[in-house]
Amino acid sequence: MKPKDLKTAFSWEQREPLIRDRVFHVPNFYQEHGRYPLLSFEDPQVFGNENPVCIEYCSGNGDWIVERAKQFSHLNWIAVEIRFDRVRKIWSKIKNEKISNLFIICGDAKTFSDHYLPAHCIEEIYINFPDPWPKRKHAKKRLMHPCFVESMARILKFGKKAVFVTDDLTYMHEAVNSFYKNSQYTPSFPQPGFINEVKDYGSSWFETLWRKEGRTLYYTQFSRSPSG
Ligand SMILES: C[S@@+](CC[C@H](N)C(=O)[O-])C[C@H]1O[C@@H](n2cnc3c(N)ncnc32)[C@H](O)[C@@H]1O
Repeated sequence: MKPKDLKTAFSWEQREPLIRDRVFHVPNFYQEHGRYPLLSFEDPQVFGNENPVCIEYCSGNGDWIVERAKQFSHLNWIAVEIRFDRVRKIWSKIKNEKISNLFIICGDAKTFSDHYLPAHCIEEIYINFPDPWPKRKHAKKRLMHPCFVESMARILKFGKKAVFVTDDLTYMHEAVNSFYKNSQYTPSFPQPGFINEVKDYGSSWFETLWRKEGRTLYYTQFSRSPSG
């Protein structure tokens, strides 16, 4: 299978949430999300089993999550990526490597989480190198906004973790502050709330690139507090 073998699921006029061939298409610029049922992981079109589910937002070409899914095959994995050209790349890896525990969401991270996931259904959350949008005028486009941190608190199981990785120190400080201000989380690392190395974390396309360029990387981790 080549990435181009995955065809667009619907025309712009006919767009609606749709699962097809291991991809859940969640349309943008769409107002009817509330009309559709929550995703059922036991559905044979999704995972067809009750194994714990981990999610990676902003998966890009899927390098990190494909390796994770292969290494931790007792877990289910969801890749969330907004760009169809990148979803295609993840999809072709799933097909060619026959990976049955990885499912793809083609859509926006927050829309998917808010409208299609039940509360406290996710075992682990990872956000690897989301676009930092460094210019002040673009700041509102950053994913690690307090609203998204709140969304993640709704879907995470109690006591389970959310991990965020970036090469952008300003973005890291901002994200850590969003977690600190949300009483539903407990930090895993002492002040300043992040570290520079995590053993056996795995490699994404951007992680490899930034390491080659000698950039410093920043990792933070917060656990969902047991109640609230
Ligand atoms: C800098 S790339 C990082 C890709 C990958 N995680 C890596 O480390 O190589 C950021 C990715 O996030 C995706 N993205 C940006 N905003 C998103 C959103 N709101 N929901 C889902 N994906 C998003 C982009 O399309 C892009 O593929």
